[in-house]
Amino acid sequence: MQLSDKKATLSFSDGSEPIEFPVYQGTTGPEVIDIRKLYSQTGMFTYDPGFLSTASCESAITYIDGDEGKLQYRGYPISQLAENYKFLDVCYLILNGELPDDQQKYDFDQLVTHHTMVHEQLHFFLRGFRRDAHPMAVLTGLVGALSAFYHDSTDITNPHHRHVSAIRLVAKMPTLVAMAYKYSQGQPFIYPQNNLSYTGNFLRMMFGTPCEDYVVNDVVERALDRIFILHADHEQNASTSTVRLCGSSGTNPFAAIAAGVGCLWGPAHGGANEACLKMLEDIQASGGISQVAEFMEKVKDKNSGVRLMGFGHRVYKNYDPRAKLMQETCREVLDALGLHDDPLFKLAMEVERIALEDPYFVERRLYPNVDFYSGIVQRAIGIPTELFTAIFALARTVGWIAQWNEMLSDPNYKIGRPRQLYTGEDTRNVPGVDG
Ligand code: ACO
Repeated sequence: MQLSDKKATLSFSDGSEPIEFPVYQGTTGPEVIDIRKLYSQTGMFTYDPGFLSTASCESAITYIDGDEGKLQYRGYPISQLAENYKFLDVCYLILNGELPDDQQKYDFDQLVTHHTMVHEQLHFFLRGFRRDAHPMAVLTGLVGALSAFYHDSTDITNPHHRHVSAIRLVAKMPTLVAMAYKYSQGQPFIYPQNNLSYTGNFLRMMFGTPCEDYVVNDVVERALDRIFILHADHEQNASTSTVRLCGSSGTNPFAAIAAGVGCLWGPAHGGANEACLKMLEDIQASGGISQVAEFMEKVKDKNSGVRLMGFGHRVYKNYDPRAKLMQETCREVLDALGLHDDPLFKLAMEVERIALEDPYFVERRLYPNVDFYSGIVQRAIGIPTELFTAIFALARTVGWIAQWNEMLSDPNYKIGRPRQLYTGEDTRNVPGVDG
């Protein structure tokens, strides 16, 4: 970061001396006021619940401009990456800062492919769960349990260990998600197969059985690969901040990523695509397209408590660039699978059409987000709704681990320790004790 010529001055109404703070510029985006010395100079903290105005770190991985509807990994627009690269290329980019050349791509693909198997003992660990356990409960446990298997790579001060852990996590996540799914179905686990792509291998581990060969459908593979690319990183969102905070204590990477999985599980974060699909299914069940206008009136009525799921975003106040790409993929998958007349897709298009013309949504700058179409795509592929967030976790693992690694490589890195505004009881004595 670069020091700006500008300075910020904080003045107080009680006549105490104003204080100056340095201002830093990034490559692009809002400048930041460096308030690190605020407490030592004034005895005051800042108050910012939800981090609405707080940059918690410096990062060179992902850039979002919510007003412009821009998302970039390492400077490259998401649309260019999604249209021209595979998920593993994007993983390489996110982890290393540059796109791979042919040799680097080959080596990286080989490296990840040869780390996809999990320790056989994990199968027994998984069998301790009830079969009807939520996949995110299973995944949180499995990812955390990885730390019990890889003592050889958990020295977080060693960059090589950090790299090995990153590869292990990216490589093993599809295996773990597929195992959680197979277990819920009562089907045998399918071992990874190295002649398939990252995404093709995941599809086979999900939908293959030992009874017959599984042939990967190219369109489905491309669609899922795109879902992975679109979810790979999203700067300092709740789960990424969780991974950073958890990892800042010096814990091992598997424990930090397990914390991220737990955070992502929440409906305000990774659970929204499940909620969006359910909303579309409910409208369909109540009469389909003819009911859309009535449903939209409910959404606009503040007393109804109904929100249009898959619409609006804390950061994007313009069309979420991922939603456009997802809509395109949705059409491609439905066509390829002979589902041209999929009623939910038609319904989604109609909801979007009405919303984009309605002053309620226009004035509030509410546009479809990535979750609006991703549920329809996953449903068409055959992924059960309760697994959607686990798919998101699989894709986000590379972002989490890259951000964790970036934090540990930062000379300004400190354990995360927010402060508070205390509003509880003042000092008092327990009954029977005089102060
Ligand atoms: N439907 C109806 N009205 C909405 C919606 C919506 N989906 N989203 C926002 N609004 C309205 C609010 O009621 C509010 O109106 P008001 O100004 O008249 O009070 C205004 O738009 C601003 O909304 P906020 O909730 O203040 O915006 P915030 O940035 O805090 O919320 C959020 C963002 C949580 C994503 C919200 O838009 C929402 O709940 N959307 C639906 C859930 C969803 O799709 N989440 C996925 C996010 S993407 C992701 O996590 C991968």
